[in-house]
Amino acid sequence: MTDTQFTPRVFSGIQPSGGLTLGNYLGAMKRFVDMQDEGSYQTIYCMVDLHAITAKLQDPATLRHNTRELAAGFIAAGVDPQKSILINQSQVPEHAQLAWIFNCVARMGWMGRMTQWKDKAGKNAETASLGLFAYPALMAADILIYHATHVPVGEDQKQHLELTRDIAAKFNHDYGVDFFPLTEPVIEGAATRVMSLRDGSKKMSKSDPSDASRINLTDDADTIAKKIRKAKTDPDALPSEIEGLKDRPEARNLVNIYAALNDQTVEQVLAEVGGQQFGTFKPLLADLAVAKMSPISTRMAELMADTAEIDRILANGATQAREITAPILRKTYDIVGMVG
Ligand code: AMP
Ligand code: TRP
Repeated sequence: MTDTQFTPRVFSGIQPSGGLTLGNYLGAMKRFVDMQDEGSYQTIYCMVDLHAITAKLQDPATLRHNTRELAAGFIAAGVDPQKSILINQSQVPEHAQLAWIFNCVARMGWMGRMTQWKDKAGKNAETASLGLFAYPALMAADILIYHATHVPVGEDQKQHLELTRDIAAKFNHDYGVDFFPLTEPVIEGAATRVMSLRDGSKKMSKSDPSDASRINLTDDADTIAKKIRKAKTDPDALPSEIEGLKDRPEARNLVNIYAALNDQTVEQVLAEVGGQQFGTFKPLLADLAVAKMSPISTRMAELMADTAEIDRILANGATQAREITAPILRKTYDIVGMVG
């Protein structure tokens, strides 16, 4: 444990790997905005372009486009560059510099146990990139180069955050310091795991071959409504208690989405819609989703019409970020024994 009091600071990141879904919005971006607006934290949000090249070769022009589009998505979703620091990872070099130190702190065994590594490398570990294996050490560096205390993420990132704490604890222990905080994951809300609209047992994902399985942040109002009307459901009416959603993954998913979009708890939603058939509930959900999502896609398109402005915001974010990261890297180097 650390006794030091750290400034309450939130950090989170998303890969600019193209395509943003309702899952990214509800599981990540919307919560980033809520934490920004709550006012109890300094908030830093990041496009992790260095992570985006770990899994496969990215076409350079596409990567640049996706990074700017993700920045537009953050801003359209409500991340305000006046209130939060919005950055692109490679523009703040201290992330990669601290990651090197952490590559020397983390153990091969820890990395080998990461489920994301096992899923993504699978049986082809021999041909996977070294960067994919080291991915969680870079992620730990993203967080700890700010001494971030809280990290909002979806359920799937929990293991990486536990590893971040392990790295911080081992560094502190090895060097006899109380320098890095043990960051808290923030995995809360009705939609930490938004599921596919076609299969309630699979996560909604930009990589699902079926476009009908997800709502994209770039979908227009008609497309959003159509996808919700066609979402897989079961024949029963909605229950009025949470227990009634057990073993009904599709129904649970749609109720979770409704609750998250409308800033309600699942209990509140069921109190209102319990007893309804999907024929009644789906149009309500479609209207809600259109009302909340289509302004975001419109704003994103407007922002993408002026990428020079996005680049200015990112350059400015990098300058602000480096005021925090440069001293923390320098102090880390001092602790480790680098002359400078
Ligand atoms: P990714 O697009 O996988 O880089 O994810 C970026 C962020 O969105 C992470 O915090 C994920 O946990 C979150 N996220 C992605 N897909 C979903 C989903 N289907 N449900 C909830 N959160 C998600
Ligand atoms: N690994 C995260 C994902 O795929 C993205 C990420 C990179 C991240 N660095 C981070 C998330 C730091 C939170 C904090 O979703």
